[in-house]
Amino acid sequence: MRCALLGIFLGIFSVLVHFVDAWGPGGDLVDACAYNGSTFTDGYLLGAYCLNDQTAIFGYNYTIIDLNLCVGNDDGTLVGLENGSYSEGCSNCTTANRDQSLYLICACLDINGQQHSSSIDLNTVLYNVDGCAHCFGHAGNKSWTPPS
Ligand SMILES: *[C@@H]1O[C@H](CO)[C@@H](O)[C@H](O)[C@H]1NC(C)=O
Ligand SMILES: *[C@@H]1O[C@H](CO)[C@@H](O)[C@H](O)[C@H]1NC(C)=O
Ligand SMILES: *[C@@H]1O[C@H](CO)[C@@H](O)[C@H](O)[C@H]1NC(C)=O
Ligand SMILES: *[C@@H]1O[C@H](CO)[C@@H](O)[C@H](O)[C@H]1NC(C)=O
Ligand SMILES: *[C@@H]1O[C@H](CO)[C@@H](O)[C@H](O)[C@H]1NC(C)=O
Repeated sequence: MRCALLGIFLGIFSVLVHFVDAWGPGGDLVDACAYNGSTFTDGYLLGAYCLNDQTAIFGYNYTIIDLNLCVGNDDGTLVGLENGSYSEGCSNCTTANRDQSLYLICACLDINGQQHSSSIDLNTVLYNVDGCAHCFGHAGNKSWTPPS
């Protein structure tokens, strides 16, 4: 009986934790940021609105992060890599909403100088902390509205 009650309690608890995790100010890019309305400029600057810690008012900020801090080019393939500086070996980069996430897509050179189309799910490297996009402990900046 006790175990059953505990099981129910833990079940409810995990649902609550998941709910808070999905909608709270921290967590995944996809869960906490309006990635569908994101902007991508100069081939490496990603800007988006992300929820901040003012949960009572669903507060949000506009954050911009340099994706060169987050993604690298591994022999023609985009990979999550701290200070990866993918834009040195990749060109024609764009972002796209795909499979309920945001992808970075580029043409990247392999070690033989051949170009390959490659993409990476940015939700695997980016996360939100109080309205500010991060990767590998590097923080983007934040403001209230996008720069004009
Ligand atoms: C973003 O757009 C995609 C495709 O248009 C859609 O499937 C997805 O639900 C949207 N996500 C959000 C958070 O609005
Ligand atoms: C990334 O760059 C920062 C700032 O230059 C440096 O402090 C950090 O050690 C670097 N990390 C790696 C893994 O190279
Ligand atoms: C990059 O884009 C330009 C303009 O759309 C195009 O001419 C060029 O072929 C593209 N290069 C690669 C490697 O995709
Ligand atoms: C972030 O947004 C909040 C409102 O949600 C605002 O009060 C705060 O000034 C913003 N932070 C910055 C750095 O602009
Ligand atoms: C954030 O960084 C971007 C790119 O470097 C810059 O254009 C923007 O002015 C910065 N915003 C703030 C509030 O520092």
